[in-house]
Amino acid sequence: MRTSSRVRTSIALTLARDYTAPTFRLRHGATVAILPAVSERPFAGQVAVVVGGTRGIGLAVAEKLASLGSDVVVTYSRSEEAARVARGVVAAHGVRCEALKADIGDRDAIVDLFREVAARFGRVDVLVNSAARGLERPRGAVESLPKHLRHTLEVNVLGPWFCAQEAVRLMDRGGAIVNLLSPGAQRYLPRYAPVGVSKGALETLTRYLAVELAPRGIRVNGVSAGLVEGTDGVRMLSPEMIEAYRARVPAGRMVTPGDVAEAVAFLCSDAARMIVGQVLLVDGGYSLLGLV
Ligand SMILES: NC(=O)c1ccc[n+]([C@@H]2O[C@H](COP(=O)([O-])OP(=O)(O)OC[C@H]3O[C@@H](n4cnc5c(N)ncnc54)[C@H](OP(=O)(O)O)[C@@H]3O)[C@@H](O)[C@H]2O)c1
Repeated sequence: MRTSSRVRTSIALTLARDYTAPTFRLRHGATVAILPAVSERPFAGQVAVVVGGTRGIGLAVAEKLASLGSDVVVTYSRSEEAARVARGVVAAHGVRCEALKADIGDRDAIVDLFREVAARFGRVDVLVNSAARGLERPRGAVESLPKHLRHTLEVNVLGPWFCAQEAVRLMDRGGAIVNLLSPGAQRYLPRYAPVGVSKGALETLTRYLAVELAPRGIRVNGVSAGLVEGTDGVRMLSPEMIEAYRARVPAGRMVTPGDVAEAVAFLCSDAARMIVGQVLLVDGGYSLLGLV
């Protein structure tokens, strides 16, 4: 039996992209990968950089964009093992994935990161700023320590700011930027002051970048999430606090990383082409609750 040109194309794509999607073996020995139809992969040919894409929400976003056909760079700062696992999980969607290490609290590291992205991929279409610090030493506003405050603002505000500056140099055919935000920017959360203030600044930056970049076909938006199940930030809360929160969510359950990833992917998609400088809140209705 001769392989058809369609099958040969699939095999070629498989070899070219290190595809690890489901395969089956024909009787004469050829292996055929099952490639989704092009219409199911609207991000094919795009390159997404997910900063902080090796764990939690960032990893869910990386996987979602990969499932839609985008090549993906996931970045991280410390955990090599999480990076190795994330790279495999994302690449299993049949796209090219690289994990690059860069502390986004360090501007020089960010410049090097995007130089590396340019060398390996040649362009950027989507930037998602998911990395954040600050919850490892939760503090109220009054007792926050100068060193911790500076570090939190460097990673959570200046990091996404410098990443956006570097990424847009590589977005020569337009693109999308999504910043991960928090309702803690608008409301008081106990021992959340450094992160809450940093998210408020990032939300404002989202609007400034949105207006400046819209004429270049680059849309900047934010996704704000309620407590997200299974993430490190939520694991730091007591089980009693998590249960009390879960019981009050109008939608009946906590938000998952996948829920947030869907919102990010929507804002990156052509369906959101006229949405500029907005914040999409994914919290199952929790923030609508009143006092009683
Ligand atoms: N979790 C929630 O309930 C929740 C709610 C609202 C908003 N958010 C926001 O959503 C985003 C993701 O939250 P998450 O809980 O999924 O985060 P996470 O699990 O803590 O993931 C953090 C990711 O960022 C990377 N990272 C941390 N510090 C970095 C640095 N200095 N430079 C580069 N990369 C760094 C980590 O890499 P390493 O592990 O290698 O350091 C990891 O890939 C954050 O912006 C957070 O504020 C979260």
